[in-house]
Amino acid sequence: MLEMRGITKRFPGVIACDDVSFEVYPGEVHTLLGENGAGKSTLMKIVYGLYRADEGEVFLNGEPLRITSPNQAISHGIGMIHQHFMLVPTLTVAENVALGLKSSRGALTDLDSVSARIVELGETYGLRVDPSTPVWQLSVGEQQRVEIIKALYRDAKLLILDEPTAVLTPQEVDQLFVTLRTLTAGGRGLIFISHKLHEVLSLSTRITVLRNGRVTGSIPVEGATRDSLAQMMVGRAVKFAPDGADAKPTDVALEIRGLRVLRDRGGEGVCGVDLDVRAGEIMGVAGVSGNGQMLLAETIAGLRTPTAGSIKIVGTEVVGMPPKGVRDAGLAYVPEERMKDGAIGDFTVSENILLIDHNDPRYLKHGMFDFEAIRKHAQRLVDEYTVKTPTLDTPVRNLSGGNIQKMIIARELSGTPEVLVVAQPTRGVDIGAAEYIHTRLIGQRDQATAILMISEDLDEIFGVSDRVAVMYEGQIMGIVDPNTATREQVGLMMAGVAQDEALSQPT
Ligand SMILES: Nc1ncnc2c1ncn2[C@@H]1O[C@H](COP(=O)(O)OP(=O)(O)OP(=O)(O)O)[C@@H](O)[C@H]1O
Ligand SMILES: [Mg+2]
Repeated sequence: MLEMRGITKRFPGVIACDDVSFEVYPGEVHTLLGENGAGKSTLMKIVYGLYRADEGEVFLNGEPLRITSPNQAISHGIGMIHQHFMLVPTLTVAENVALGLKSSRGALTDLDSVSARIVELGETYGLRVDPSTPVWQLSVGEQQRVEIIKALYRDAKLLILDEPTAVLTPQEVDQLFVTLRTLTAGGRGLIFISHKLHEVLSLSTRITVLRNGRVTGSIPVEGATRDSLAQMMVGRAVKFAPDGADAKPTDVALEIRGLRVLRDRGGEGVCGVDLDVRAGEIMGVAGVSGNGQMLLAETIAGLRTPTAGSIKIVGTEVVGMPPKGVRDAGLAYVPEERMKDGAIGDFTVSENILLIDHNDPRYLKHGMFDFEAIRKHAQRLVDEYTVKTPTLDTPVRNLSGGNIQKMIIARELSGTPEVLVVAQPTRGVDIGAAEYIHTRLIGQRDQATAILMISEDLDEIFGVSDRVAVMYEGQIMGIVDPNTATREQVGLMMAGVAQDEALSQPT
C-alpha cells in the first residue's frame, strides 16, 4: 500500500529522519518503535502531508504520492490519529466528525446523516459513542474512539495511530485492539506507534525500529521479545523492574483525613479518603482513570478546595492554601496533563526548567537572574534525563512529545521535596527513560521523600511501589502489599470488589 524510499527530513540542528525506507502491506499492523525523538512522528507527518521530506520518495499503491496537506492525504485514503488530540471540545461528536467535510446540502440535514453513519460505524467496529454529546464531556478513551470514527468516516484505507494508547486504561486498550484487528482483517493497513512493548508484541505483524532518525532493523513479530526489542531500540539491555533496597519508612509526611471533593461536572468525586504516606516510602495509587485519583492529586496540590477534610504536609495544614503555599510547605507535584499544565511551548528549554525555580536563591545574584547558574542547572537536567534537544534555547514546542515529558519530570524531581505527588510518571516516555525515572523515584524515596504515585500502569505500580492503595469511585478500596498481592487481585479491587474478597481469590 505504502512505500517510503530514502526519506530524509532535517530541522535546525537535527536530522529527524535520515534515509528511512519503510513500507506497509494491506492487512498488516506495522509498528514504528524508537526512543523519544527518534523521528517516528516526523516520518508519519510526511505521509500525512504535514511535513515535506527534504529527500526521498513516497508511493501509495505504486503511484508516487505528492501531497502538501492533510486534506489531500485524506482524499487519498490516509487517516492519522495524532499523539495529542485534535478534536474541538465545544462541538459535539457529530460536528467534530463533520468538520472539514465538503457538503452540498444544508448543515442540519447533513448532521443527521453524519450521526446515523457514526452509529453505524460504531456498531460495525465496536466504537460506541453518542453523536450528540459535546466532546468535552467525553473520557479520553471515548475521544480516541471519535478520532478513529472520524478517519473511518472518511474511508481511510491506511490508518496511522501515533501513540493511541498512551492515555487509555488497560481495559480501553483491549477494546481498541479488538477494533484495530477488525480493521486490518478488512484489508486496511495500520501503522502503530507505542512505547509499551507488550502492546507492540500483541498487535503488530511487523516492527521497524528507528534510532536517531535511522532504521536499525525491521523484523516480523514472530520471534521478537521485550528484551530483543529493547536492545534494538536503546542499543543496550534494559531493566524492566527497577531494583532498589527495601524502603525504610519513618514518620508520616502526608496525612489525609476525611477528604471530600466535588467533580467539575457535579457529584462527589472523592468521597471520604483517609491516607497516610510516610517519609521514605512510595505509595502507589492504582485505579481506572476517573475514580477520583486526579481530584485527589489536584486537591493536595492546592488546585482544588475540598468540601471537607484535612491534608497535612509534615504537620502543616495545607487545605485553603494557594498552590504556591503548598509548594513552600514541601510539596512537589507532577500533574497528569503535563502538556497543558506543565510547560510553555513558546519558552525555551532553559526557561521552562526555571519555571518553578524563579525564586530559588541558587539562581539569583544581587537580585537578578544568574543566567550562568541557570544554564548549568538546565544542562545538567537535560544530560541526566537524556532530554533530546538541539540547544537549551530551543522552544519547547519543537521537542518531541516524550522529550517534553522528560523535561518536566526532570524539573520536578530536581529538588528534595518532603512530599512528591506524581501522576503517570512515565506516560509517553521511552523504555530507557522510564527505567531512569523509576530509579530516580526510588532514589528520591531513599532520601526520605514521601511519594504518592498515581498510575494506571500495573507494571509500574507493582515495580515501584512499597504499598498500593486501590481507588474506586472516590474511595480507597484497601491498601495491599505489592510483594504478596497479585495483579488479578488488584484488578478486582479496581473494579470495586472489596479487599477481603479480592485477596481471598485464588491466584
Ligand atoms: N517542528 C519541528 N521543529 C524543529 N524540530 C522538530 C520539529 N518536529 C520534530 N523536531 C525534532 O525532530 C526529532 C524527531 O522528533 P519526533 O517528534 O519525530 O520524535 P518521536 O520519535 O515521535 O518521539 P516521541 O516518542 O517523543 O514522540 C526531535 O529531535 C525533535 O526535536
Ligand atoms: Mg512522537
